Amino acid sequence: MFKTIEWKDGVVRMIDQTRLPLEVIYMDCRDYREVADAIKTLKIRGAPAIGIAAAMGIALGAQEIEERDFKSFYKILESVGNHLAKQRPTAVNLFWAIERMLNFVKNNSKKDTKELKELLIKESINLLEEDIKVNKAIGRHGADIIKDGTTILTHCNAGALATGGYGTATAPIFVAIEQGKRVKVFADETRPILQGARLTAWELMEAGVDVTLITDNMAGALMKKGIIDIAIVGADRVAKNGDVANKIGTYSVAVLCKENKIPFYVAVPTSTIDLNTPSGDLIPIEERSQNEVTHIMGKLQIAPHGVKVMNPAFDVTPARYITAIITEKGRFKPEEIKKLERIG
Ligand code: MRU
Repeated sequence: MFKTIEWKDGVVRMIDQTRLPLEVIYMDCRDYREVADAIKTLKIRGAPAIGIAAAMGIALGAQEIEERDFKSFYKILESVGNHLAKQRPTAVNLFWAIERMLNFVKNNSKKDTKELKELLIKESINLLEEDIKVNKAIGRHGADIIKDGTTILTHCNAGALATGGYGTATAPIFVAIEQGKRVKVFADETRPILQGARLTAWELMEAGVDVTLITDNMAGALMKKGIIDIAIVGADRVAKNGDVANKIGTYSVAVLCKENKIPFYVAVPTSTIDLNTPSGDLIPIEERSQNEVTHIMGKLQIAPHGVKVMNPAFDVTPARYITAIITEKGRFKPEEIKKLERIG
């Protein structure tokens, strides 16, 4: 099984997701600027994985700091955090992980900076290991929504590649399969940059899961024909009122589910819940380059030169479309989210 990201011999090693599925290449980030670039260019993507990368980026950044007094050390580390935080705006796990690492430093202000550098590496590895445990718990809390023979639609990639391992939307699927249930997954290709086709289809095939790839605009027709039993997606941020930001196209899936009386589930670690954002309209939505829409994977041009383009990378699904939010603490109605506290 592949490792999405790991700390290895003083570097941050990650699978370069822009090269999948044609090439499985691991790349090493030797300083925090390289980690920041990997986040920006989607070499690593998916909310929890971005958070883990940022935590490891902070640990890398700490190794460069020569200042020995705590105040100067912290100030420089804070600027490393600010740089990492600028790379993508929507996934709240990025900000959560940076805050957690900086708080960890503050809580250890009496320690020598040499020791702190080592502790930061350990803390970033803890964050990765916790993420995998959390995902397995999400799987346990979600497995009973999947019966023997269930067909599941998913959108984008909320699998092992989007996390430390095991995935969020994929976790209930893996647990259900471990329980001996037969499961079929339909993966939306996820235009414009095809995380469903490139990543979800690849990793589910690697894991031996029965997966069928469809284009995004096929989902409705399949639902109407009775082919889809439930939908499970991940999220980049859950607002206090239970609205959910996830990959563009998720809202359409949710509306189609409602029309076709199909349960629509969101699987997230509680680190994706942002109680400081009261509702989905306030979640910042990343606008990405026009080239992602006019060209297939930056190569083949498919639209006229100069055409006007919009490219919001995420959309917001209002809470009323969501059957339940599956977390490591259990399954909740969207209106119950406000009572939850985050881990960490
Ligand atoms: O732009 P991406 O590929 O980072 O978007 C990823 C998603 O939208 C995922 O569904 C989300 O981050 C949840 S990952 C468990």
